[in-house]
Amino acid sequence: MTDRIAKPFLKWAGGKTQLINDIEKALPKDISNNKFTYIEPFVGSGAVLFWMLNNFPNLKKAVINDINEDLINTYKTIASKPKELISILQQLQSEFHSLENKSEEKKEYYYQKRELYNTRKGEQSGQSALFIFLNRTCFNGLYRVNRKNEYNVPMGSYKRPTICDKGNILSVSQALQKVEILCGDYEETLNYADSNTLFYFDPPYKPLSKTSSFNSYAKDEFNDTEQIRLRDFCHKLDTLGHTWILSNSDVKGKDENDNFFDNLYSDFNIQRVDARRSINANPEKRGALKELLITNQVTSQEYVRAI
Ligand SMILES: C[S@@+](CC[C@H](N)C(=O)[O-])C[C@H]1O[C@@H](n2cnc3c(N)ncnc32)[C@H](O)[C@@H]1O
Repeated sequence: MTDRIAKPFLKWAGGKTQLINDIEKALPKDISNNKFTYIEPFVGSGAVLFWMLNNFPNLKKAVINDINEDLINTYKTIASKPKELISILQQLQSEFHSLENKSEEKKEYYYQKRELYNTRKGEQSGQSALFIFLNRTCFNGLYRVNRKNEYNVPMGSYKRPTICDKGNILSVSQALQKVEILCGDYEETLNYADSNTLFYFDPPYKPLSKTSSFNSYAKDEFNDTEQIRLRDFCHKLDTLGHTWILSNSDVKGKDENDNFFDNLYSDFNIQRVDARRSINANPEKRGALKELLITNQVTSQEYVRAI
């Protein structure tokens, strides 16, 4: 069907492309020899998922999950009806591009599609096409909904954005054939773990400041209590003998007295790695930042100390 490498089909806050080298170094050493189950409970746009699927084709299985139902329905549509989706996206793309030099009509078109999306009455492939359309044409690729779950991001200023990347949708569809796709709270993914499982967690990050809050991907906020619940879940996985890697923001980089994550994960290995965020309304704040990569594996340094 296609021999292209599958890559994320969405722009998504917290996309992990910049962190992949560090994640690679943190993977279990036998990941390519063993028949691992890979579970990503906060999949978002799946940057790490697609990298794993492309680089470790002998994974026994992969399981993805997200609480965002519209996002997960889009994964399911790509897996099961890629051609139907492509034909709707092609139409949306040609209509949108035809309005390139008509700014008022273009805006009207965008808000009309946003309203249609928010009715959530369309059949699954139409709804998924609108989800991708809005993601490619909105301001900065943001996904934000209000309390009523209405998507409310304004139009972006792209001239001729790619709305339908046919080759990639086909590659993603093919890659998803061995992936179990779930929608719900991350804790439910434990039911899919077996004796050789790697979890990679990329939860909504703890905001570095009140205005940099990118953690409202869904109706419910991922606050400190949620961060603590996630740590408790990681402890449980550790007790059960599962391996996990988790990313989060480095709040200590902003305030050196802020030991929130250092205290929460003091039983585990915490690394600080360079990261660059692409979604930030203020370009001046898009510079280099540290992020945390935490794992329950013994690092090579610790191993050397122990022998
Ligand atoms: C930082 S994003 C993931 C970014 C992603 N790994 C990427 O590369 O683009 C966090 C995701 O967690 C999801 N989420 C928030 N609360 C959740 C929960 N309780 N259970 C599962 N997913 C949740 C959000 O919908 C969002 O897609």
